[in-house]
Amino acid sequence: MKIDIPANFLIGAASSAWQTEGWKGKKDGQDSYLDSWYKNEPNVWHEGYGPAVATNFMENYQQDVDLMREIHLGAYRTSINWARFFTDHVNLVVDEEYAQHIDDVVNALVEAGVEPMLCLEHYELPQALTDAYDGWSSREVVDLYAAYAKIAFERYGDRVHQWFTFNEPIVPQTRCYLDAVRWPHEQNTKKWMIWNYHKALASAFAVKAFHEGGYEGRIGCVLNPEMAYARSSSPEDQRARHMYDLFFNRVFFDPMVKGAYPQELIGICREHGVWVDPADGDLEIIKQGTVDFLGVNQYYPKRVRAPRYAWNPQTPFHPEMFYEGFDLPGRAMNKSRGWEIYPKVMYDMAMYLKEHYGNIPWIVSENGMGIEGEERFMNEQGVVQDDYRIEFIAQHLRWLLKAVEDGSSCEGYMLWAFTDNVSPMNAFKNRYGLVRIELDEQRTRRLKKSARWYQSLIDDRVLELPDEEGAK
Ligand code: BG6
Repeated sequence: MKIDIPANFLIGAASSAWQTEGWKGKKDGQDSYLDSWYKNEPNVWHEGYGPAVATNFMENYQQDVDLMREIHLGAYRTSINWARFFTDHVNLVVDEEYAQHIDDVVNALVEAGVEPMLCLEHYELPQALTDAYDGWSSREVVDLYAAYAKIAFERYGDRVHQWFTFNEPIVPQTRCYLDAVRWPHEQNTKKWMIWNYHKALASAFAVKAFHEGGYEGRIGCVLNPEMAYARSSSPEDQRARHMYDLFFNRVFFDPMVKGAYPQELIGICREHGVWVDPADGDLEIIKQGTVDFLGVNQYYPKRVRAPRYAWNPQTPFHPEMFYEGFDLPGRAMNKSRGWEIYPKVMYDMAMYLKEHYGNIPWIVSENGMGIEGEERFMNEQGVVQDDYRIEFIAQHLRWLLKAVEDGSSCEGYMLWAFTDNVSPMNAFKNRYGLVRIELDEQRTRRLKKSARWYQSLIDDRVLELPDEEGAK
């Protein structure tokens, strides 16, 4: 089976600053949240690897850009490391050396014919702002972020025409303050909601500033909605799905795309004492600062059922009160990551956006497969024969292209990731890249088999699937 890829459908790859850069040239006071976590809880990072060296992109970026050029990559998304962008985060003193590095990366990409996309925050909240204000708990940080966004647009807006305000803004506070599974292990559901709210507000300020500045291009946010599926058609399981969607998807989709929070979410949060009292005028900013487009990170389905047990009143309020996770018997799994593989998630998300969010333009900003022990699959020349990755991408793309055919306004697919890089905690355990990174001193790079296959997709604009696989 052959499927044509529309001529204007973007095919790119993504990554982030903290997962690639390494700490070369980093100055005192430039730790991000991730750096602090790594320093405070090194025992949970796989084999001790973390952001300290990463892929040493600070020194090696040109090698990566050359490889992007070699496979004709359409676009590359990374982030500006907010924590490194200033030497003084409160008085907004730009670190010229670091800002120049971003200039160099952007210029190299443009020169190589790869479209640069920049994200303003990919978990890189400066530790200095946590020390001074408890991070996003404070309205001050919203203002500092908005000022940072303006500086970034002014500096790079002539060459960067696709911007993202955040990557997965819900994630850090969900892991740290809702589930408390990550450092600093502080369970506080109200704080979780305040962080959600301040990030939505900060995003709106940045969007407004981008529009008012009259920059060329567009601005959106990278979200990680989890396409939720109910175990069964029972009203109870359906309600569990609805509640999961409300608390983890609509909590960002609605303010960012529709400019307002769902009343139902506000009501339930109020009832449980975790709603936020917006300052005067803030809801108006959210209304005015809706995004031009979305990036959607999509890896796996979220399956839920109605909870089987009554909520323990001694347990702090958690949306889990309304649902319970459900493992579909017989599901395909990526065992390295523990994530279900269900390529139709692409189609279902596309239709969800079409139906509920006015078919807003969007791209798949991340999708991919992290596999442990990829050296097992190296041939004699040292090239990883990652046929499983090719199959994974092909099946997901197939559903995405079907969605485009059925009227979805999805405009592209960005693989996570261009090179192997550091995952939160899993570090280099699961490899995601089209490019293999050796953990030697140079962080030697080599294209995997999937990189050449990706190149053929880009060059030929045809997705070929084995016939018998067509109906997967
Ligand atoms: C996304 C993040 O959630 O998933 C990336 O934006 C992350 O930063 C990627 O690396 C893959 O997840 P993980 O945990 O396996 O690295």
